Amino acid sequence: MSQKPITLQTLLEGLNRDLAHEFQAIMMYRLYASLVTGPMRSELREFFSGEITEELGHAQVLADKIAALGGTPTTTVPPFELTRDPKRMLENVLQAERETIERYKERRLQAQELGDIALVVQLENIIAEEQVHHDEVRQMLENWPY
Ligand SMILES: [Fe+2]
Ligand SMILES: [Fe+2]
Repeated sequence: MSQKPITLQTLLEGLNRDLAHEFQAIMMYRLYASLVTGPMRSELREFFSGEITEELGHAQVLADKIAALGGTPTTTVPPFELTRDPKRMLENVLQAERETIERYKERRLQAQELGDIALVVQLENIIAEEQVHHDEVRQMLENWPY
């Protein structure tokens, strides 16, 4: 049985789910930067803070696209774990980035199916940036000292 063709409504719902998780990433990086403890606080604080600009850029692309398609951007931020433990923070961030990449891959296929090549290109650029975030955090967790 073939899958149902994707509608604009389905794409808008997906883009809003993506936007909500970009808001989550912005909050996660901001609060983790403030809360992080331990001997690597200074370095991790800078790393977390540094991610915010790109996540804000992703939120802008999504909110602009949702508005252009006649949709209503979400104001929802999905909950996430607050902790002061640096390793736990990095594990939470790694999982969030992994799930985010999977969502964007699905969105890219939907955009392609709808023939919105401009959105395909925008999503591919976002995927490339999320992959860098993901790989960086994975390498930070390798040989974690404690
Ligand atoms: Fe992002
Ligand atoms: Fe990211």
